[in-house]
Amino acid sequence: MKQKDLLYKGKAKSVFNTSAKGKLIVEFRDDITAFDGGKKDVLKNKGKYNAEVSAFFFDYLERNGVKTHFFTMLDPHRMVVRKLEMIPLEVIVRNIAAGSIVRNYPLKEGTPFAHPLIVIDYKDDARHDPMLNDEIILALKLVTPTELKKIKEMALKVNRLLSMLLAAQGITLVDFKIEFGRQGRTIYLGDEISMDSMRLWDKKTGGSLDKDVYRFEKGDVMAIYHKVAERITKPMNKRR
Ligand code: C5P
Repeated sequence: MKQKDLLYKGKAKSVFNTSAKGKLIVEFRDDITAFDGGKKDVLKNKGKYNAEVSAFFFDYLERNGVKTHFFTMLDPHRMVVRKLEMIPLEVIVRNIAAGSIVRNYPLKEGTPFAHPLIVIDYKDDARHDPMLNDEIILALKLVTPTELKKIKEMALKVNRLLSMLLAAQGITLVDFKIEFGRQGRTIYLGDEISMDSMRLWDKKTGGSLDKDVYRFEKGDVMAIYHKVAERITKPMNKRR
C-alpha cells in the first residue's frame, strides 16, 4: 500500500489518501496546540506517543465490541485507518468536573458526576466549537436520530471500557473527547484517543497525565507523555 496525496491537515495530524481502496493513512505529527490554537509548539516524539496509545485503545475497544476505524500501524507515527465520512461532532464524556465545564458552570473541580455526562460540541474552528444540544444537532442534519442514539451508546461504552482499563493502571479517566464517522449505515469511532484528547489524573498523586500539563505548564510534557504511554500500553505485569 502506497501513501498518496494529502487529504486533510489538522492541528496535530495529517490524513493521506492511499493506493488501497477505502483506506487512509493518519500521520500523528509532533505539533501540539491548546486554547483554540492560541498556544503552539513542536515536541519531539509527541506524535509517536499519541499514536501508540491510540492504537492500543482502538485495538482494545475493537476486541470489546466497539467498531473503530483502526487497521494497523505502518510505523510509530502512521496509522492505517478505514476511510469514513466524518461527522463534525466532538463527543465529550465527563466523569468528573474539570476544564471548560468548571469554567462555564458553578461546579467545583474534582466533583464526580452521579453518572457520566455527554456533552457534544460542533466541530468548527471558525465558530470555536460551540456546544450543541440534540435539537440543534438534528436541525443541522448532522446525524439521524438513530445515529445520535448509537453515537451516545458507543461513547458511554468507550467510557466504561477505558475507565476500567485505566483504573487498573492507577489512572482516573476524568473526561475525553472522541469523534465518529460513517461508512454506509455503520458508525465507527474515528480520529484518535490519546493524552491530547483525554484528561487523566494519577490516582495516587492527583497529578495530571495529559495535555493539561502543556496547557498550564505543570511539568515536562514529553517526560509525562512517555511515562503514561508506557504505563497504558505496557502494564507492570507485562513489562520485562
Ligand atoms: O476543554 P474541555 O474541558 O471542554 O475538554 C474536555 C475534554 O475533551 C478534555 O479531555 C479535552 O482534552 C478534550 N477536548 C479535545 N479537543 C477539543 C476539546 C476538548 O480533545 N477540541
